[in-house]
Amino acid sequence: MQRLIFQQIKNELVNGSIKRGHPFKYFTLGSIKAGNPVLRTVVLRQMLQNMNIVFYTDKRSNKVNQILENNSVSALFYHPRKLLQLQLEGTARIISDPEVLSRIWNSIPASSQKDYSTSSAPGTSIKSPEEIEYLTTDNYFCMVEIVPHTIEYLRLKRPNHIRVKFVRENEDWRGQFLVP
Ligand SMILES: Cc1cc2nc3c(=O)[nH]c(=O)nc-3n(C[C@H](O)[C@H](O)[C@H](O)COP(=O)(O)O)c2cc1C
Repeated sequence: MQRLIFQQIKNELVNGSIKRGHPFKYFTLGSIKAGNPVLRTVVLRQMLQNMNIVFYTDKRSNKVNQILENNSVSALFYHPRKLLQLQLEGTARIISDPEVLSRIWNSIPASSQKDYSTSSAPGTSIKSPEEIEYLTTDNYFCMVEIVPHTIEYLRLKRPNHIRVKFVRENEDWRGQFLVP
């Protein structure tokens, strides 16, 4: 049964990364700022074979600075119709391979490229949204890969809720049922 559950986790995350409207398209990313938790929503861009997940961001953003300071992160996914929650815990790394970055950058529509091309860093104070300026020749696009070491699955369901903790062991994952 744990194998099936793990397969379900994989399928939902793959669908989240490719299907418009899937609730796993967005997830809550937790990072640590001077010992305090910080949460925000990001878009799930890729789900890799080894369960690592990728999101895009601006390399000047607070989250990147927090990850460089402390690479421990968590990712929270919630599927309201299935009452399914996934909690990933692991480490994050900034993808810096210029070939990968330029290949992905070139696949992003120009309207979305703007998100990574503001002349001032994200979080800079401005007087109004009209004041945002965009660079035309430079960008701060960056990709972050989350390497989970633990994935916790919780499915609320009558008569028994199902909670399983999966821990990565080398290339494999070991599952353990838990009291929900
Ligand atoms: C629906 C939605 C999707 C978002 N997707 C991303 C994303 O993929 N990458 C990103 O850097 N910020 C994304 N954001 C903005 C972040 O939630 C956050 O406000 C911003 O990145 C600044 O975060 P930071 O100061 O912690 O770095 C998204 C926000 C919303 C509401």
